[in-house]
Amino acid sequence: MILVGIEDIDFATGSYVLDLRDLARDLGVEEDKYRLGLGQEMMSVPSCDEDIVTMGAAAAEKLLSRVDKNKIRTLLFATESGIDQSKAAGIYVHKLLNLNSSCRVVELKQACYGATAALQLAASYIKVHPQEKVLIIASDIARYEPRSSAEPTQGCAAVAFVVGNEPKLVALEEPSGIYTEDIMDFWRPNYRQEAFVDGKFSAKAYIHALRSCWIDIQNRFGLRFENFKRFCYHLPFTKMAVKAHHQLLQDHQLLEKEKRLLENLEPSFNYSRLVGNCYSASTYLGLLSLLENAPEDLKGEKLAIFSYGSGCVGELFTATVLEGYSLYLRKQEHRNLLLNRKKIDIEKYRQLLYAPVVKDGSRKEHPHETLGSFRFREIDQHKRLYEKCSPK
Ligand code: CAA
Repeated sequence: MILVGIEDIDFATGSYVLDLRDLARDLGVEEDKYRLGLGQEMMSVPSCDEDIVTMGAAAAEKLLSRVDKNKIRTLLFATESGIDQSKAAGIYVHKLLNLNSSCRVVELKQACYGATAALQLAASYIKVHPQEKVLIIASDIARYEPRSSAEPTQGCAAVAFVVGNEPKLVALEEPSGIYTEDIMDFWRPNYRQEAFVDGKFSAKAYIHALRSCWIDIQNRFGLRFENFKRFCYHLPFTKMAVKAHHQLLQDHQLLEKEKRLLENLEPSFNYSRLVGNCYSASTYLGLLSLLENAPEDLKGEKLAIFSYGSGCVGELFTATVLEGYSLYLRKQEHRNLLLNRKKIDIEKYRQLLYAPVVKDGSRKEHPHETLGSFRFREIDQHKRLYEKCSPK
């Protein structure tokens, strides 16, 4: 059987960061509500010359040093916060990264679930075309109504990974439980920048989808809770995973071991706690955080990974951590990336995140603010123009 999985993974985020204590003060909310109630401390904010394309290109750039570009014949770009109703954001990335012209590019959307669909499609594709690699980029900016209770659960990031038959980090396993239902827990009509969300209902829907996926995986593959060493969750805010896992433990009468089993989730929270929600990228930011921050060697551990996209599709899939995985991580670089973000105040944050969209085709140039190596230079005649730049 062909082994398929993740060969390399990296992430990028916005150049700015907002401390959620500042947001709490501004909204007249107790600081602990965000820190303890939601499990969040900071939120990445994109600069005016950053968007899902620049973050996606930055996340994927370093992967190209370890893979033969000519083998990448498919780029799947998953996003909820698409920048065009027609053209795939991945095409801009394809150009910025100078990828081969014989590479198909397509965008996938199902709220926060898109990258998991991309991963499953890529895995099946690689089994038929083992000589190729699939580049997956998940990139999103989470935006809700200002001053709503969802505001502290915003954030932005892109995660990029290479899927192929020489996995170095995790190998994908066949078992997977799936759940789809037409519900309105979170949605964003085409004319809106900010998502609508029925927050409390969405949290219930997440847990319902998880339990349904669990039943599906159990029925189809006969798996038991004990088959998994560790769980890794989609992280709209880290407390969501704690609640979801608590429910699974309760369902399996494992509450007496709850403290230890919940502690097991902690390493997967490190990055999301400081970045916030990044929709389609969030499950994979959690996975990367787990690989880079677990104090013990995870070699051989069976993971159950839960991906949830409102609307809704849930998938609980399985993977095994491979021997030597830590040699392929970039932990120090990621630490620096998070530490080097520029702290901004509430005023700048609101200005950036809720900047009016240019709709009349007039030219809008962006000053050079990003700390990254790609920038969204301007918009002119309804066309977005990007460029590679020297990191500041
Ligand atoms: N100290 C400690 N904890 C405090 C506190 C304090 N001073 N004040 C309040 N809290 C706790 C509350 O007790 C509550 O904890 P429990 O949930 O454990 O009871 C927690 O803080 C949240 O407080 P509220 O119940 O008052 O909730 P809220 O009105 O602030 O809304 C939310 C929370 C619904 C998550 C809202 O932030 C939201 O709508 N977020 C966006 C939607 C979302 O992320 N949904 C997740 C599932 S959908 C999904 O996963 C897809 C996706 O990415 C969007």
